[in-house]
Amino acid sequence: MQLALLLVAAYLIGSVSFAVVVSRLFGMADPRSYGSGNPGATNVLRSGNKLAAILTLLGDAFKGWLAVVLAQSIAPSLGLDAMTAPAAGLAAFLGHLFPVFLAFRGGKGVATAAGVLLGASGWLGLSILGVWLGVAFTLRYSSLAALCAALASPGLAFLFGLGANWILSISVMSGLLLWRHKDNIKRLLAGEESRIGSKKKQA
Ligand code: G3P
Repeated sequence: MQLALLLVAAYLIGSVSFAVVVSRLFGMADPRSYGSGNPGATNVLRSGNKLAAILTLLGDAFKGWLAVVLAQSIAPSLGLDAMTAPAAGLAAFLGHLFPVFLAFRGGKGVATAAGVLLGASGWLGLSILGVWLGVAFTLRYSSLAALCAALASPGLAFLFGLGANWILSISVMSGLLLWRHKDNIKRLLAGEESRIGSKKKQA
């Protein structure tokens, strides 16, 4: 029962879409109405408002991190076991993808997954951030950077010594993240994906 309540709380935390919240606070258009239509930092950047994009990125990452850290700190006092934090991270990620506050139509999960990984292990999170930044700065495709980071995550988690529960949770997140990028993959293969800084892509 306590585990279920904790996972529901993590899911609700993940359901807060900072792309939508920040855009409303800034008096901007809803990110679901322009660009790729994705409520995420990359698409908010297409509005031209860099501060809003950065706040979206930080907010979406923070909620993933928060769900894991809360679970890690609460689990021992509730007598919950080692799978609690990986499950809470996955619940927050699912909240971002399928948010109850947005009729279950959410984002692609990149920033939230990064926050979850940072909560799991600082070194793992920083390594994945390095993969993302390396691809993003050299090729200037946010989606390709996310795909590379997702593919690298389970292997890096293993190398950093994370347990089986974490590797399973991260593998599920990576698989879902790849699936959410299926349209980006088609555009990348067709040479039609917009690069970071471009405002051209339509929903
Ligand atoms: O974080 C999402 C990114 O990988 C792709 O976003 O808007 O280009 O579909 P977008």
